[in-house]
Amino acid sequence: MTQANNKISARFIACRAVQLVADKGLNSDRALEDAGINKLTDTRDVSFAKSICFGTLRWYQQLEVILSLLLDKPLQRKHRDIYFLLLTALFQLSKTDIAKHGIVSETVNIVYTIRKKWASGLVNAVLRNYLRQTDSLKNKIDKDPVAKSSHPEWLLQIIQSSWPEQWREITDENNKQAPMSLRINVQRSSRKEYLGLLKTSGIRALSSDISPSGITLEAPCRIERLPGFDDGLVSVQDIAPQLAAGLLDLQDGQQVLDACAAPGGKTAHIAEASSGKVKLTALELDPQRLLLINQNMMRLGHKIDVKQGDACKPETWWSGQKYDRILLDAPCSGSGVIRRHPDIKLLRRASDIEQLAQQQRRLLNALWPLLKQGGKLLYATCSILPQENENIIDSFLLQEDHAKEQRIDVNYGHSRQSGIQILPGEHQMDGFFYACLQKN
Ligand SMILES: C[S@@+](CC[C@H](N)C(=O)[O-])C[C@H]1O[C@@H](n2cnc3c(N)ncnc32)[C@H](O)[C@@H]1O
Repeated sequence: MTQANNKISARFIACRAVQLVADKGLNSDRALEDAGINKLTDTRDVSFAKSICFGTLRWYQQLEVILSLLLDKPLQRKHRDIYFLLLTALFQLSKTDIAKHGIVSETVNIVYTIRKKWASGLVNAVLRNYLRQTDSLKNKIDKDPVAKSSHPEWLLQIIQSSWPEQWREITDENNKQAPMSLRINVQRSSRKEYLGLLKTSGIRALSSDISPSGITLEAPCRIERLPGFDDGLVSVQDIAPQLAAGLLDLQDGQQVLDACAAPGGKTAHIAEASSGKVKLTALELDPQRLLLINQNMMRLGHKIDVKQGDACKPETWWSGQKYDRILLDAPCSGSGVIRRHPDIKLLRRASDIEQLAQQQRRLLNALWPLLKQGGKLLYATCSILPQENENIIDSFLLQEDHAKEQRIDVNYGHSRQSGIQILPGEHQMDGFFYACLQKN
């Protein structure tokens, strides 16, 4: 296969993957797999396919509006493949520096490859019209908040009402590519040593001011390039989740439960930050995801107790010994990590938020009795929606006489009625919420 053909395949795989996310509700990793990304042999083609897939998902709501303005009439359902081909081509034309004529001609080539010759004229005309009308289309987009922000209307409305002063920055940050941050396994290396290893490998990076074991790379790189990754010197983790271990205020000998643990990023950090001197249990509901915890602990050299079970049903897994510390990193909408997972904007529905809030309340209610007198429970989500964050904690504090909030006193994030909220992009971090509850 020639390089040109490879590129066509990469483009087509990206287009199939976007369709699988939008129409079948697959997440982007699974969609790329099902679309055949593993058949690409050249790593440059893999990166190219991913960048088109992720970019199209990131700008999906905007691209759909542009396409609707360019089509005389909607495409029939049976021609959804052409619809997604046009969306991915419009992404390349509007948001990348790839040569415009190449994008148009290679997109038309794909039409022939998939035996839809009839559509070649249409595809050619739509893309050429886009190039002719770019400025007037941009003016129209600027007047439409959904298209401009490229967020679904329901989500945009919640973000606007929850963060009236910050919503523009939030939606802008959600559409940027996230930086790549690392957490040094301080049991195997030090930050200074590891920065030296990165330098030797030609990878430029800076220490985080916020997480003592955190490093942010100047540009993302493939994991295989990270020195000592397989030997457990380092993990890939954003700076915001690296705050959990410190906020837990760990002391030697404590019994610690990480109640929603997979893939084990925070579990491993707890083991590292406490030098293995706490008795740590990682609990996870999903058996497949449990395997990821085991893999990570093996790579990093942590020996901890890993249990499969439902945190809402302690009677099925709990020994009866209460915990000094509980981390509840609750399942959530992921609205704080949209910049890493733009598929969230397509996969989540407005109705999910109340369901997630119910699940978060259930988890908190079920885990609270497992905490010792004087013990601390850290509630965390990677969401920026109050419905999943301070509202959950506010109502829990009203209902639970023995729960008292321990204010988190730090020089980052936004103090809320309960807890603190980090918004995406602040100090380069993902959007995260933390609240610390103590049992009196
Ligand atoms: C936000 S993720 C946790 C991320 C993890 N703490 C980390 O830092 O790598 C939430 C996890 O909770 C798990 N989960 C959801 N409901 C659960 C339940 N009832 N009991 C235990 N785990 C649950 C999900 O399968 C998911 O792996």
